[in-house]
Amino acid sequence: MPTHVVVLAAGQGKRMMSQLPKVAHAVAGRPLIGWVLEAVRPLEPASTVVVVGHGADQVHPHLPDGVVAAVQEEQMGTGHATQVGLDALGEVGADDTIMVLYGDMPLLTTALLQHLAERPAEVVTRMVTSIFDDPSGYGRVIRDEDGFVVEVVEERDCDDVQRAVREVNAGAYGFRAKDLIDALGGVSNHNAQSEYYLTDVIGILVGRGERLEPVEATPEEVVGINSQDQLTDAGRLLQARINHDLMQSGVWMLDPERTYVEDTVTVAPGARIYPGVHLEGKTTVGAGAQVGPDVFAVDSTIGAGSTVWYAVLRGAIVGDECEVGPYASLRPGTVMEKGAKVGTFVETKNTTLGEKAKAPHLSYLGDATIGARSNIGAGSITCNYDGYEKHHTVVGEDVFIGSDTMLVAPLTVGDRAVTGAGSVITNDVEAGALAVERSEQQEIPGYSQRRAERHTGKQNED
Ligand code: UD1
Ligand code: CA
Repeated sequence: MPTHVVVLAAGQGKRMMSQLPKVAHAVAGRPLIGWVLEAVRPLEPASTVVVVGHGADQVHPHLPDGVVAAVQEEQMGTGHATQVGLDALGEVGADDTIMVLYGDMPLLTTALLQHLAERPAEVVTRMVTSIFDDPSGYGRVIRDEDGFVVEVVEERDCDDVQRAVREVNAGAYGFRAKDLIDALGGVSNHNAQSEYYLTDVIGILVGRGERLEPVEATPEEVVGINSQDQLTDAGRLLQARINHDLMQSGVWMLDPERTYVEDTVTVAPGARIYPGVHLEGKTTVGAGAQVGPDVFAVDSTIGAGSTVWYAVLRGAIVGDECEVGPYASLRPGTVMEKGAKVGTFVETKNTTLGEKAKAPHLSYLGDATIGARSNIGAGSITCNYDGYEKHHTVVGEDVFIGSDTMLVAPLTVGDRAVTGAGSVITNDVEAGALAVERSEQQEIPGYSQRRAERHTGKQNED
């Protein structure tokens, strides 16, 4: 039987204390809603609807193609939201399965959802439950003496006996379509929150003598996010899953608990990751690369066999067998070709370093093209900004830029040229030439002696 999916995501999430709608909060590289949809995707449902409302504009961008958004104008409860979702589903067969999921459950697994999709024809509903040490905040699953589920009672509507129950409603269900549609019509809002509860459907169906099957999940899998600290806890669990999968695939990690790799990142087998590494967005790491300790990289490439440590990379491409750091900042538009080096206290922006080009110490290279095998001496910088506009610097191949050279852009230094240490280079330099810009050194003998006498009236000790 085909499966249709309705994800409820219209709530504001007041307890998040945030402007952002709850399901748009990101954890381990995806928004909450993204994690739920990722778990759903392999099931290839016939249709998927996400019910949006609060901050719909901020949720829309996270919905992949093929997922339909239905707007719940006013948040009148999960039952009402489900109705809005059903109306947007299109054609549904009476015996199809409608899976209803809450959008704030980022740890849902495909394997668990599979159980809901595989509901046997004679079972009207499969619902996920879990035993929590601390069930507070959740709806309680009430069973009769024979152990059959009879209803779900929201915490605020519980009596003392019900409140003591530790089995909770997770917020993931597989309903037979016709029964859900029918039972929803019977849900009222006579409860502590004056909302239409989807959970009332359970009691209605059981009351009709229908067969309902609970599916028990671990508390981890079904945790619902309502606050910032729960978001952080979920992030830790998701990160552990990501790191586990990476290590299974052959990535070495010294300390997975201090390694933060978003789900959108690719790390090749054989890479080595040290603690304090944050890899975000569309970052990729090649085989045999060493990353860390202490690297933050977003939307960047780290090539095979490269070493990057104590560094920040934003929109940078580091080729194979390169060296970056310690203490380097690679800003957007940085491209390092094979074997290039950006060393200690070096910042680059919109700059290409050719093969084996090196800037080992204390440099700023902005809007520059550095040819293959050229060496940028310690303390040298490109003066790329005149206060109004940015200008480009071209350094040819096999160039030797002496220490502390100021390269005032726009500027071209020809292949094999040399600049003298401390020079301020404002004119283009011909290939193979030496450019020095330096006043002559003066020497005044006996100066130190006369200076000491001036200040103390005495002769120097030595
Ligand atoms: C709900 C369940 C509770 C369960 C818990 C699990 C109900 C009545 N209660 O409670 O039994 O233990 O989840 O986490 O279903 N939403 C809408 N529109 C609305 C209201 C909610 O789209 O009008 C969405 C929210 O965005 C959220 C989800 O439904 O993603 C659940 O809503 P939430 O307010 O978090 O429900 P809980 O009080 O946690
Ligand atoms: Ca919730």
